[in-house]
Amino acid sequence: MKNEQVAELLYQALETERGGIEVYTAALECVLNDDLKKEWQEYLEQTRNHEQIVLAVMDKLGLDPQMETPGQLVVRQIGESLVEAMEMALEGGPPEAAQLVACESVVQAETKDHLNWELIHEIAEKSKGELRQTLMAACEQVEDEEDEHLYHSTGWCRELWIESLGMPAVLPPPEEEGDAVSPGPTPGSRA
Ligand SMILES: [Fe+2]
Ligand SMILES: [Fe+2]
Repeated sequence: MKNEQVAELLYQALETERGGIEVYTAALECVLNDDLKKEWQEYLEQTRNHEQIVLAVMDKLGLDPQMETPGQLVVRQIGESLVEAMEMALEGGPPEAAQLVACESVVQAETKDHLNWELIHEIAEKSKGELRQTLMAACEQVEDEEDEHLYHSTGWCRELWIESLGMPAVLPPPEEEGDAVSPGPTPGSRA
């Protein structure tokens, strides 16, 4: 295993969680649907907790969180762009459009977040000793939430788009009925 790249992933994971806090904060300015608002408020709190969990992992592994890697700056740039996109939509268009931009921004941010944790899990499985223990413990706290963040947000994004197209939408989306690991009714099973 390439230790340097393991460290790089953790730096990017920290930046992703921090960017996630900004993305959810901006998304909550754009949201119109009350159920989605409640969900995003919950995900914002979970993301704040994830930031602390990554910081604790870095501390245990002796990684300085003050350090910045070039890859981390790329993740920051993408996060800032997502926030800017939401601000642009809020200023320039109807509120329904801003809500769709917020959904897409959350899905993009959560895609990276989900990937990070999937990879952290992979590393944990192939490691031994303290590294394995530290990463496994972190994954146990975070991974189910990341599955839900991505899966549910993708559902909201699709159904709110469908509603905006003037077609019958399932709101809250069918994804809300299953758990993220074993999905409930598939999107194709709409009534
Ligand atoms: Fe997260
Ligand atoms: Fe997340």
